Amino acid sequence: KEMLPLVDRPCLAYVVAEAVEAGLTDIILVTSRGKEAIENYFDRSPALEASLEASGKKELLREVLLAARLARVISIRQHEPKGLGHAVLTAASVVGNQDFAVLLPDDVIDSPTSTIGQLLEQQAQVGGAVVALKNVPRSQVNRYGICAGPYLTPQKMQIQQMVEKPAPEVAPSTASIVGRYVLPGRIFSLLEQTPLGRGGELQLTDAIAQLCGEGLVHGLHFTGTHHDTGNPMGFLEASLYYARKRPEYAASVREMLKRMDDSS
Ligand code: G1P
Repeated sequence: KEMLPLVDRPCLAYVVAEAVEAGLTDIILVTSRGKEAIENYFDRSPALEASLEASGKKELLREVLLAARLARVISIRQHEPKGLGHAVLTAASVVGNQDFAVLLPDDVIDSPTSTIGQLLEQQAQVGGAVVALKNVPRSQVNRYGICAGPYLTPQKMQIQQMVEKPAPEVAPSTASIVGRYVLPGRIFSLLEQTPLGRGGELQLTDAIAQLCGEGLVHGLHFTGTHHDTGNPMGFLEASLYYARKRPEYAASVREMLKRMDDSS
């Protein structure tokens, strides 16, 4: 699903562009069975490039070349689907003991400044872990990691409590984690000791929560428009949002929606 196109480029391309804009140059893709298309996307393809060149599709050609050159891309295979924490742990030997960023490609964010860049800036000041936050309706808290704690500024939370997908009646707040994290290398040893959590999976939320007691976890209500493309309606809304942003499609989208409205 990371390769499903929003308008004409895969979700993954938006997320990689966000990372590169923030100055990240080494990208580790954690993939699994059936996700070969993700790795292929970053390969140069002489045949494709030649045919785009011949048909005058210069814009598209630039995109293809950009994907190939944006960053150093490494891919690692997660052999069993044992949760987000396990996927992150899979990258441990490549990342080593340094701070790093995690971006989940389901979450696509349009922002004047790279969202992971906003988190990196924050983390440079406070250290530890920084996660992206967004308020959701209480009825939806059971789809996300939820964070609670005092606000240091209107955007910045000192996180004291983190719960993975709580029931609405017991959720400590409605501030949900969006798939952007800056984490310390120490998270790997915590992940190794974290018991399986929600859904019998190793949860990244549970590992980060262990740093809350040391005052080392912050949340940032980032600036930007976020879409969760992991569900059908979120994906549809994101497609319309990005199509409307493109000058060559904006008018057609408006007409299309009006036509559908009028005929229903
Ligand atoms: C994961 C995390 C969750 C977070 C979400 C953001 O859940 O476990 O804490 O809120 O990503 O997209 P998943 O979407 O994998 O169920």
